[in-house]
Amino acid sequence: MSTSLPIALITGAARGIGFGIAEEMCAAGWHVVINDINQDAAAKAAAHLRDAGHQASHHAADVSNEQANEHMLDAIEAAHGPVTALVNNAGICPFVDVMEIDRATFSRTLEINLVAPFLLSQAAAKRMIAHKLAGRIVFITSLSEDFTNASQGDYAASKAGLRMLMKAFALALGPHGITCNAVAPGHVLTEMTRHHWEQAEPAAYIKTRVPLARLGQPRDIGRSVVYLAAASTEYVSGITLTTDGGFSAANN
Ligand SMILES: NC(=O)c1ccc[n+]([C@@H]2O[C@H](COP(=O)([O-])OP(=O)(O)OC[C@H]3O[C@@H](n4cnc5c(N)ncnc54)[C@H](O)[C@@H]3O)[C@@H](O)[C@H]2O)c1
Repeated sequence: MSTSLPIALITGAARGIGFGIAEEMCAAGWHVVINDINQDAAAKAAAHLRDAGHQASHHAADVSNEQANEHMLDAIEAAHGPVTALVNNAGICPFVDVMEIDRATFSRTLEINLVAPFLLSQAAAKRMIAHKLAGRIVFITSLSEDFTNASQGDYAASKAGLRMLMKAFALALGPHGITCNAVAPGHVLTEMTRHHWEQAEPAAYIKTRVPLARLGQPRDIGRSVVYLAAASTEYVSGITLTTDGGFSAANN
């Protein structure tokens, strides 16, 4: 069965930035498939979008599992049609000092933040080519692709790697009319960061260091993804669209 709308698969979209992307993609006329490792949360997120009048479904999978990714793409294709836009959003940040972090934790960050987007993008792109789709692949990186602190060494390494992976896919897929880009969010209030930004000192930091004087909201990131996923953005590939309220203008 095929839906009338183009299909967007968004990973890690049960909450946070991924869900904000899902809301904006739905509003822009996409059928959104919510992927998340958390099955219940993914189902609830998709139901929430349908209640708001949108076309949405869900598929739970750990995106670092290659077989699960193939099964997910098969299932989406059978139920709705092939994926036109893939948004690699799922990510983790364990916040452990680079002198304390163990190998398993470091490797897990790289597996989910870097290896998983590689596996899923390669698998999805092969199908986009087979279906002759003008596909869109968007990677959610971070300002941490350029700078870090001692407790985000694994995370920053994964995001810097992700930026270069995006460029390699842009080179490989351009001849097929498929664009690949990144969105680098600044400071966004989500479950990943809430413990930090809801304290007084960090809140004051945002007011003075972010020109637009507020934290980012997930839907701010969603609107940048909508731009890069649009059919009209066919000549934009290999770029990072930093979406940080102006933070990098003063702090790089
Ligand atoms: N919040 C920020 O300030 C910020 C800034 C820059 C970049 N980012 C990036 O944005 C993305 C989303 O971050 P967030 O703040 O919304 O985080 P979050 O922790 O609120 O949400 C992440 C979601 O990904 C899911 N997930 C985790 N591992 C998964 C896996 N293996 N397979 C499938 N789903 C998985 C989680 O269940 C969760 O629903 C991440 O890539 C993060 O690095 C966030």
